[in-house]
Amino acid sequence: MNDVTSGILASLGRSDIFLSGEELCREFSITRSAVWKHIGLLRDAGCRIEAVTGRGYRLMELSGRPVQAEVGMFLETGRLGKNFVYHQEALSTNQLARALAQEGAPEGTVVSADSQTGGRGRMGRSWISPPGVNLYFSFILRPALPPFRVPQLTLLVAAAIHRALLPHIPGLRPMVKWPNDIFLNGRKVCGVLCEMQSEPDLAHFVVVGIGINVNQSVFSPELRHLATSLSFEAGRSLLRPQLLACVLNQFEPLYQEWLGMDDLSFILPYLEEYSLLNAKEVTVDQPRKSIHGTVRGIAPGGELVLLGEDGRRMLVSSGEAHIRKEPS
Ligand code: BTN
Repeated sequence: MNDVTSGILASLGRSDIFLSGEELCREFSITRSAVWKHIGLLRDAGCRIEAVTGRGYRLMELSGRPVQAEVGMFLETGRLGKNFVYHQEALSTNQLARALAQEGAPEGTVVSADSQTGGRGRMGRSWISPPGVNLYFSFILRPALPPFRVPQLTLLVAAAIHRALLPHIPGLRPMVKWPNDIFLNGRKVCGVLCEMQSEPDLAHFVVVGIGINVNQSVFSPELRHLATSLSFEAGRSLLRPQLLACVLNQFEPLYQEWLGMDDLSFILPYLEEYSLLNAKEVTVDQPRKSIHGTVRGIAPGGELVLLGEDGRRMLVSSGEAHIRKEPS
């Protein structure tokens, strides 16, 4: 699928009436048989398009799958998502995006899948990725920056996802849990996994992987108390391609701004406003130790600021935070 296929779908989506083959030929400077080929691609992707002789084409229903043509209808980016790969089933979109990046795929390439059989989470965990309900996607970035700046991307992505979600779940208050989760009503609804390939002074590429529980209604007993979905909390299902596009739309300008800055200062007020951990007593588990303290915010470098029991101020750069006690 390419820009013309997305463009045709966007035109059909904007029109309540039939669009003739001739109109589409003119709009996209293509032949009748090319229009027919693009309509075929859209139907293969699951869109229901009616074709009536003498009248033309009419969009009846989107597939709702996170495919390029449907994401493209909502995309407002310059670069991000313009190169787009979709898999009905993938092992892991992060793994696929990494392989594409190693082959030289351009910055902004997106890999999305309807389901994953080996979805990966942080700290070696798996990410359960059933078909037909959620978003699993990854994109390639090539920031010309030293590797120490890359962990900041996780929080930047979390802020973009948070901004993208807000208009779709009115009345609800999603929260960012440092460094990479979005929570809704106390349960996890989204996770971010950033993976980097670098040399000591320069990042070669970063794969940003995002999993959002969008319309999932059933969770395993182990996850039921920990995870939720947007549809479960909002009481209605959401359009996955639109949400994916909104995340990219929100992220691209933030990323541009961040590239020109030294750190995350410009987005800290936003992150602090929606921080799940602020003022909480937490334990941050790292592979070899656990750190206790009360959260005093996020530092410009993206570290969690903790006040230790001995009054010492600590900057924690990685780990899994658990809330110990609500402040009295
Ligand atoms: C976490 O919270 O542990 C991060 C979860 C990240 C999951 C996403 S789903 C799309 C992409 N592909 C993967 O294998 N993982 C990320």
